[in-house]
Amino acid sequence: MKQNTLKAAVLISGTGSNLKALIDAIKTGSLKLDIVRVVSNREEAPGVQHAINANIPVSVITHKSFPDRVTHDAAIAKVLKEDQAELIILAGYMRILSEEFTNMFDGRMINLHPSLLPLYKGLDTYNRVLETGDRETGASIHFVTAGLDSGPVISQIRIPVLPDDDAASLSARLGPMEHRLVVATVGLFCSHSIGYENGMVLHLGKAIRQPLLLKDDGTFGG
Ligand code: GRF
Repeated sequence: MKQNTLKAAVLISGTGSNLKALIDAIKTGSLKLDIVRVVSNREEAPGVQHAINANIPVSVITHKSFPDRVTHDAAIAKVLKEDQAELIILAGYMRILSEEFTNMFDGRMINLHPSLLPLYKGLDTYNRVLETGDRETGASIHFVTAGLDSGPVISQIRIPVLPDDDAASLSARLGPMEHRLVVATVGLFCSHSIGYENGMVLHLGKAIRQPLLLKDDGTFGG
């Protein structure tokens, strides 16, 4: 029912394939989510078109128009508040956020990151996984706090690193897994199964000791 549908805003900077995965899941009825707005900090972000095609309001709020990070973030916050977004989803939003902004949405903002956090925060995760010789990698969704990619991890999906993998092949294999992870994890928010208390992730009311692991059958394990 509409009045129970979670209102979310999605922030993007680029391709927007994870935004597209969310839109598709809403269309097929597998995700009861209302994307009330997409915000891009880049006018030329291809992902903007996914929002337009789905009739989702889009705000392009480019950082170049603001003197500093705090004023840019404040402009985004204003829009998100006007839309009464309950969940903020960073899906390939490539700007570091100010502490003012992360504090404002504490416990209501999540980020998708292409590594098994706390490993490989920041950029260039695939090459760093390969250089270290890891046998597996994956993606994580975490609550956003002031530290870069440092907030409590909610969920993860894992994939093996194959002997002849390079950054391109790893990224190509992880992409569809990220789509599954973002849809399934946002689904947990839609069913109010995830909470946040004193910096800890709650699942069904209980603090989790380790991230929820998305399995092949689409369910979460410990
Ligand atoms: C994903 O790999 C995500 O983990 C990272 O940025 C990428 C976004 O891809 N934060 P897309 O724009 O959703 O296609």
